[in-house]
Amino acid sequence: MTSVQNPGPLLLLLCLLHGSEETCPSMCLCVSDTVSCSSSGLAKLPQSLPPFSVTLDLSHNHLSWLGAGSFNRMPRLENLRLTHNQIGSLGHGSFNNASSLRHLDLSSNKLHVVEQHYFQGLWRLEELLLYNNKIAQVEASTLSGLSSLKKAYFSLNQITHFPFFSIQDHSHPFLSMLDLSSNRMSRLPWEDVKALPGLVQRGLYLHNNSLICDCSMYSVFWHWDLRDYDSLRDFTDEHTCTIYGNPRASIRFLRHSRFFQNCTLEKAVSMPVTVLLSNVVVLEGERVHLDCQTSLSSTDLTFTWLSPSKGYITQSSINDTLISLFPNGTLEIQAVKVNDSGLYVCTAVDIKQALNATREVNVTVLLPPAEPFNTGYTTLLGCVVTMICILVYLFLTPCRCSCCKQPKPPAIPIATYDPSTLTSVFSPSIRDQHKIQPNRHVAFMEPMLSEEGTEWTPES
Ligand SMILES: *[C@@H]1O[C@H](CO)[C@@H](O)[C@H](O)[C@H]1NC(C)=O
Ligand SMILES: *[C@@H]1O[C@H](CO)[C@@H](O)[C@H](O)[C@H]1NC(C)=O
Ligand SMILES: *[C@@H]1O[C@H](CO)[C@@H](O)[C@H](O)[C@H]1NC(C)=O
Ligand SMILES: *[C@@H]1O[C@H](CO)[C@@H](O)[C@H](O)[C@H]1NC(C)=O
Ligand SMILES: *[C@@H]1O[C@H](CO)[C@@H](O)[C@H](O)[C@H]1NC(C)=O
Ligand SMILES: *[C@@H]1O[C@H](CO)[C@@H](O)[C@H](O)[C@H]1NC(C)=O
Ligand SMILES: *[C@@H]1O[C@H](CO)[C@@H](O)[C@H](O)[C@H]1NC(C)=O
Ligand SMILES: *[C@@H]1O[C@H](CO)[C@@H](O)[C@H](O)[C@H]1NC(C)=O
Repeated sequence: MTSVQNPGPLLLLLCLLHGSEETCPSMCLCVSDTVSCSSSGLAKLPQSLPPFSVTLDLSHNHLSWLGAGSFNRMPRLENLRLTHNQIGSLGHGSFNNASSLRHLDLSSNKLHVVEQHYFQGLWRLEELLLYNNKIAQVEASTLSGLSSLKKAYFSLNQITHFPFFSIQDHSHPFLSMLDLSSNRMSRLPWEDVKALPGLVQRGLYLHNNSLICDCSMYSVFWHWDLRDYDSLRDFTDEHTCTIYGNPRASIRFLRHSRFFQNCTLEKAVSMPVTVLLSNVVVLEGERVHLDCQTSLSSTDLTFTWLSPSKGYITQSSINDTLISLFPNGTLEIQAVKVNDSGLYVCTAVDIKQALNATREVNVTVLLPPAEPFNTGYTTLLGCVVTMICILVYLFLTPCRCSCCKQPKPPAIPIATYDPSTLTSVFSPSIRDQHKIQPNRHVAFMEPMLSEEGTEWTPES
């Protein structure tokens, strides 16, 4: 990969090959459908940009503003990098006619307010990066219309209020990452947060804010903790809240829950915690044990089974020597029939905490294979097979070692994903990648494919 170490000559060659495209501005490099004007000291957009570019990198410049229709001659533009500029606001219609955009990186700029017109019409946008700005306010309908959005990063800003209510199942069906960590939110509209689609709740990052400790806050995190969300597991110690709003009395509330001992956590549950599906295959006549181990670990649980043929089975409803339900939730069927096949659903209920969890077991009962021989024949057959084995062994012994030793397959290292092997000419500088790694306080961890790909200038 010498071209990675020193892409200069190759780039020059490619540039010359593309020399006929007069639209490539002199300070930029244009290769195939990628244009990079990174670190070019630009204070405003180049006059004309190649119209059929898919990727445009304007990072590390001095741009301070984008005007209407800045990219309206680029109908195929999908990736736009504007990180590390001085952009303080966007004019109306900045992204007019840029509705192919899928990745928009405005991180490390100087945005103060995210106005509702900023991203209008970007219905294909999947990834929006706004971390490390000066954002204090996100206007209510900023995200409406971004129906393809998958990941949005607002970390390291000064946001005090966020329009959670504008995110709903039907408006953002794919949103699975919403990073609001390291902001200045002290009280959240917890009812709106609890109403967020499950996928969004699972990918919501709220650590390192200035949350005020109270029961409504705690109950939301308590339930997320119970569901073992990555956002809490990966940043346990960064989840702090302040007691009585006193910034000096800050506690790590996922570790020290004693402050919340008087909170009632009942009302916050709105859905069963988990559904675990397992499969059991048995032969007719066998005895089966279906256990009901769920995410609930309390010792004080009650269990209900719904069986495909017998309806609800509870401890009190059993009057059947063939079925028993143990106190630990295990359901035992003495001799299953083919007709007992189907989906068994167990619900474990923790009455004290008003929690329930379900487990599904898909039971398949097979008829035993028809036995063509009686036991005598089977034994005889066994003897014959053994005899043949011995004979084969005796006659084939000389050949045994040479024939049967298979060469060990060589250990093939599993190719790991390495973005530098994907971006051919525009390879990431290794130094830059190292710079990204320690940024653990930003939940943002996956640079987009073309990201970092267009920086080859030594200084950044
Ligand atoms: C941009 O889109 C508008 C309609 O939304 C259209 O009238 C206009 O011609 C387009 N401009 C360019 C440069 O394609
Ligand atoms: C919880 O309630 C008990 C009894 O009412 C009280 O003594 C204690 O201080 C309370 N704890 C907190 C953290 O409020
Ligand atoms: C489980 O909890 C949900 C919500 O609290 C409730 O609607 C449902 O009836 C409960 N199921 C059982 C079997 O208790
Ligand atoms: C169980 O069945 C027996 C008869 O088979 C009946 O006398 C008894 O009342 C039943 N018990 C319950 C709890 O249904
Ligand atoms: C539940 O109890 C029964 C009977 O004591 C036992 O056979 C079974 O293994 C137990 N199941 C689990 C999951 O502990
Ligand atoms: C299975 O159920 C069907 C009716 O649903 C019945 O006709 C059949 O006899 C049952 N078979 C056995 C083995 O119980
Ligand atoms: C249960 O298992 C059977 C056979 O393996 C399969 O056909 C069926 O789709 C399964 N049902 C569920 C709900 O997974
Ligand atoms: C927490 O947020 C502040 C800014 O609000 C930031 O300076 C700091 O680095 C963050 N700390 C962590 C551990 O993420």
